[in-house]
Amino acid sequence: MNDVRTDLSTDYLGLSLRNPLVASASPLTGSLDSLQALDEAGVGAVVLPSLFEEQVVHEAMIFGYHEADEASFNPEAHGGYFPAMDDYNTGADRYLDLMVSAKRELTVPVIASLNGTSEGGWTHYASALEGEGADAVELNIYHLAADPDQTAVEVEDRYLRLVEKVRSEISIPLAVKVGPFFSSPANMARRLAEAGADGLVLFNRFYQPDIDLETFDVAPDLELSTPVDMRLVLRWIAIMRGRVDAYLAATSGVHDGVGAVKMILVGADVVMMASALLRYGPDHVATVLADLGRWFDDRSYESVVQARGSMSQVSVPDPSAFERANYVKTISSYHPDV
Ligand SMILES: Cc1cc2nc3c(=O)[nH]c(=O)nc-3n(C[C@H](O)[C@H](O)[C@H](O)COP(=O)(O)O)c2cc1C
Repeated sequence: MNDVRTDLSTDYLGLSLRNPLVASASPLTGSLDSLQALDEAGVGAVVLPSLFEEQVVHEAMIFGYHEADEASFNPEAHGGYFPAMDDYNTGADRYLDLMVSAKRELTVPVIASLNGTSEGGWTHYASALEGEGADAVELNIYHLAADPDQTAVEVEDRYLRLVEKVRSEISIPLAVKVGPFFSSPANMARRLAEAGADGLVLFNRFYQPDIDLETFDVAPDLELSTPVDMRLVLRWIAIMRGRVDAYLAATSGVHDGVGAVKMILVGADVVMMASALLRYGPDHVATVLADLGRWFDDRSYESVVQARGSMSQVSVPDPSAFERANYVKTISSYHPDV
């Protein structure tokens, strides 16, 4: 990494990062050992795995049971909903401990992650995390709008109120991670920024359930991303760059240096990775950084800041390439092999 001439340092959420590569929330950022390995491999910042609303509420229920009415407690009724949660990330206290040790041991900014959809007492953990030294909070609003009675306006309002609530809890920077499924994603991005998001993390990958034809179960089935998943993010970051007053973080489908360069050129302030780091290990950070640095060096860029957004929609000669025209061109460019 030392022989890269391009200045890779960058600013994200007002934090100074040595480079724009961020390890996004995943099991790899959930243990001190792998966090340290990511730091040593050169990552610019880390996002801890999420503390989930369900987890906090679940613990509060158990706490209520101890405090109030032991006889009426039914473990099956309470425990049944959260087995995976307990395996993935064990409890708010452990989470705060991880925050403390990550801050103590790492040389890079540590971003805490909260994951939920409703305004409730659970959002107080934002200020608890600030108290334990978090450099910023990432709020992941992973909401599936499955209620046919709920309008798009009501759903969007729910997002905005939640952002305002968490914003009011903390004075450190706030990033908001959302999915792409809004009628007008760029307008929604603007309103999230107006509600208090300093940065937007685009986009959540929604894990789609499968059904098991033997057991007739609806089966969760987590598949890691592939590089083609980055196209959706690439387009929307290109469209939002310069038009939404928020830092932009790209997440989904970035697996290598070339992918990271593309995201920066369309306007990402930072590029996040989870699947590729899970697949290839923390050292993959060094490979991606070397490839990214070489790409910028070979083209004599002074800094990533200089390159950022040079291929955003407002910068390219043909802005329609990011819109419907791209669709028309794409389908007419298909030639069957046979
Ligand atoms: C096993 C696994 C666990 C994850 N856990 C979280 C999480 O706790 N919170 C969160 O916001 N995102 C979580 N993510 C999503 C990633 O942070 C990332 O946004 C997503 O995987 C897309 O990026 P990628 O293509 O680099 O994997 C998780 C992803 C994976 C694969």
